[in-house]
Amino acid sequence: MTDSTPLEAALATISQGRATARIEGDRASIILDVTGIEAAEHKAFEARVRAAALAVPGIASVRIALTSQRTRRLSIAVASGKGGVGKSTVSANLAVALKAGGRRVGLVDADIYGPSQPKLLGVEGSQPTAKEKVLQPVATPFGVPLLSMGMLVAPDQAIAWRGPMAAGALGQMMDANWGDADTLVLDLPPGTGDVQLTMIQKHRPAGAVIVSTPQDLALIDARRAIDLFKKAGIPIIGLVENMAGYACPHCGEVSDPFGKGGAEAAAADLEIPFLGRIPLDIAIRTASDAGQPPASGNLPEAAAFTAIGDAVLRWINDGG
Ligand SMILES: Nc1ncnc2c1ncn2[C@@H]1O[C@H](COP(=O)(O)OP(=O)(O)OP(=O)(O)O)[C@@H](O)[C@H]1O
Ligand SMILES: [Mg+2]
Repeated sequence: MTDSTPLEAALATISQGRATARIEGDRASIILDVTGIEAAEHKAFEARVRAAALAVPGIASVRIALTSQRTRRLSIAVASGKGGVGKSTVSANLAVALKAGGRRVGLVDADIYGPSQPKLLGVEGSQPTAKEKVLQPVATPFGVPLLSMGMLVAPDQAIAWRGPMAAGALGQMMDANWGDADTLVLDLPPGTGDVQLTMIQKHRPAGAVIVSTPQDLALIDARRAIDLFKKAGIPIIGLVENMAGYACPHCGEVSDPFGKGGAEAAAADLEIPFLGRIPLDIAIRTASDAGQPPASGNLPEAAAFTAIGDAVLRWINDGG
């Protein structure tokens, strides 16, 4: 078939090339691709296409089906070899920084034993609803919708959760109604256990950010986490050094009780990018405890997180 039919010709302009049409007798069946068009516009768009089709001589009835390709959603895992190095702090602030950089971001808190994102994002006690068994993420004041293991399980039950239950909850969070989010940040539990494996094998994050402290790097935990992702073929976006140096609460000067440059050297040694360092800073902890991620304000502490956000944005824009 080379020439277009009168129906196709009539639809070409009005449908912006989004229509595929088939005619049987005097009935036209049209598939309309509405990917990227706001839901509120769908009815009007469909009506215009229907009117154009009905105006074609010989067509008496028109059936239209709308389709939409899911937007490609990229997920970024934030992981570490051991606990307490600041994964959750980095995840929350990375999500806020990516949002400020123009991404549409959602946050998944997959840490079943220590879910902390509801507190970090100021929505402690909020519960997600479910529509037709699909979870609806909780809105946060920072424009980053959130789902947390802590919302799905009572704190005193967490310890009784077994691997398969955790994997099921993880799946529900990943398949939730994230709307038009194009980026999910995944706050993982520490180490290399069941949740990490399920995440890697089933949900295939586009890349991983590894968080470590200067001391952690001297040990082999961070390397183990890096290895887990590398072996699974998940790209390492880079290494964040947290609690790197101590920011004096009085003068702001950063001193380095554990020496300086170790993480950057370790990253080079491991052949992974170094994304930046975040000082150990009381203001970071107090803002975090108050549900105000430092990246969301104009505290001086925001700068370190913004720089890491920018590095991750560059990674995404380079093809993620
Ligand atoms: N750069 C920093 N300066 C000061 N305090 C920090 C910094 N980073 C994290 N913290 C604090 O350290 C504690 C642990 O951080 P966080 O919960 O982010 O670590 P985590 O790696 O997610 O821990 P877990 O392994 O338990 O999930 C928190 O109280 C947090 O506010
Ligand atoms: Mg955590």
